[in-house]
Amino acid sequence: MTTLKFSIRSDAPESAATPCLVVGIHEERVLGAAAQRVDATSGGAIRRLVESGDASGKAGTSIVLFGLPGVAAERVLVVGLGDQKKFDAAAYHRAVNDAARALKALPVASAYSTLAELGVPGRDDAWKLRTAALAADAQAYRYTATFKPKEAAKTPQLQAVEFAAPVSAARALAEAGAIAAGVRFAKELGNLPPNICNPSYVAAQAKQIADAHAGVTLEVLEREDMAKLGMGSLLGVAQGSANPPKLVVLRWQGKGDQSRPYALVGKGITFDTGGISLKPGAGMEEMKFDMCGAAGVLGAFLAAVELKLPLNLVCIVPAVENMPDGNAYRPSDILTSMSGLTIEVLNTDAEGRLILCDALTYAQKFDPEVIIDAATLTGACVIALGKHASGLMTKDDELADQLLVAGTLTHDRAWRLPLWDDYQGQLESGFADVANIGGKNAGAITAGCFLARFTNGRRWAHLDIAGTAWDEGRKGLATGRPVPLLVQYLIDRSAK
Ligand code: BES
Ligand code: MN
Ligand code: ZN
Repeated sequence: MTTLKFSIRSDAPESAATPCLVVGIHEERVLGAAAQRVDATSGGAIRRLVESGDASGKAGTSIVLFGLPGVAAERVLVVGLGDQKKFDAAAYHRAVNDAARALKALPVASAYSTLAELGVPGRDDAWKLRTAALAADAQAYRYTATFKPKEAAKTPQLQAVEFAAPVSAARALAEAGAIAAGVRFAKELGNLPPNICNPSYVAAQAKQIADAHAGVTLEVLEREDMAKLGMGSLLGVAQGSANPPKLVVLRWQGKGDQSRPYALVGKGITFDTGGISLKPGAGMEEMKFDMCGAAGVLGAFLAAVELKLPLNLVCIVPAVENMPDGNAYRPSDILTSMSGLTIEVLNTDAEGRLILCDALTYAQKFDPEVIIDAATLTGACVIALGKHASGLMTKDDELADQLLVAGTLTHDRAWRLPLWDDYQGQLESGFADVANIGGKNAGAITAGCFLARFTNGRRWAHLDIAGTAWDEGRKGLATGRPVPLLVQYLIDRSAK
């Protein structure tokens, strides 16, 4: 699971020895600066292509030129950038992803990209570099863990990308490398099947992070430990599974003992059958991704530690399987949470909030500066926002703005939903302090409102990643979201 290697290089594009040089051209025969130099050196090789119509410069198109006279690169990948007048952050994001997709299809072990030199309004060198590097690594990721091992590939596979950029942007490349490692970690954990990735496996992955990094400590709470703490809500969900629950607690002290930590909490349902309120069969296999919140906060933690961010961090992952069984919890059961609040279970498929509420109560023991949870919590969030934006819920406007900005900068975007107390009435129960479902209206928000009852007015935000954590369809893979958003948020905080 190694990421691509990134580095900065500054030799001229036409004289740089590389298996593949990447340059951009716009529509209407406008060549980028690097393309112009290659064109001049090669006696007009790119212009001729543009004039003949072979290369249009349209976004989404690319063309490979092999062995250009006078040019040191073995081949040149010419990427279409679209209309120069409309070349903004979104167009740049698309272009670097298109380039990365074209690159991985070529038989090259490394490439030299000049795309980060293109001007993008409102974005600096660091952003351009990070965005290009993250795109390259995202496109290079392959899931192979559960296929029959293949013979070693006969053609070289992309392993390294060099970027033309000022050396002063090196920190951005280190950030990209760390975020890419976190994203890969989250993708791989998400993609693994639930007969491998069960609660014990999640705990073992956390142990690997702790073992590989000095300064990281790990505690794993077992069923008995959680029982002693009174986590009746989490344990209620867990009781139908033969796989025992784990509560993973990772800590990073990047800023001594005095400073309050940032707490990340991730939903780790390693498979969600719905329990006794059984889900329909069609599409149930997607519920192996119901631990993507856990994978996301673990990946973000890993990235933060690799960057040695100067802040304190605690990462809490309740890892539980939701199964129907003779011993399973049932609709109408009353659970007593660690906070003391009693919960009437009206649907055993609303299990995420039941494990998160105890994890949120536990998180407060660390007196965190901020708590952020990530969870594939509701189908309703997918209905509301689709697959592009995560749902963000918080009462704290400043925290909301910081998270929205982090999502925009990393193209891991969130959109805010209200968390007004007006919705709390939907969670009333005749038999307990709160019900675990809020009826058909505003399902993403009432799930957020349920969690809010366990945060004691602390600074807290909830990210519903049900739509964004994996791609649709039979071959849909985990996306690694919201790792980029979370890491960018932490980088921004540590810069303060
Ligand atoms: N893990 C699901 C939410 C989910 C569903 C995520 C589909 C992604 C795609 C969650 O545990 C769940 O089942 N939620 C229920 C809540 C309902 C019973 C109030 C849902 O959304 O249907
Ligand atoms: Mn469920
Ligand atoms: Zn679930």
